[in-house]
Amino acid sequence: MPPDEKTPDRDPADREVCLCFHVPLGKLAKFTRLEKPRVCSQLSECFGAGTGCGWCIPFLEKIFEQVREDPETLPTFDISEEEYRVRRREYHKRINAEKMRDHREGEEPK
Ligand code: FES
Repeated sequence: MPPDEKTPDRDPADREVCLCFHVPLGKLAKFTRLEKPRVCSQLSECFGAGTGCGWCIPFLEKIFEQVREDPETLPTFDISEEEYRVRRREYHKRINAEKMRDHREGEEPK
């Protein structure tokens, strides 16, 4: 059973966006509404969001834009929490594979 079905009453604001630093959607939306960052990268000042693996950065950009357009509405996601986690795992596999390839290519004699 997907986690979304296990926790149907969970507050959407509690959904973790930055999984590296466990930063929830509600905190990011509140930070954006109150601190009024000029650029999305300033969301990193909200508990370090986006400064780990980088997976969540496109989602931080969406949150940043959505809150600036409509500060009173909690941003929404078009993928489930489970799918979000699955895609992040795939992202990590791809990044690690690229690092391994780069490392091997760096070791080859010229
Ligand atoms: S999930 Fe946000 S930096 Fe890794």
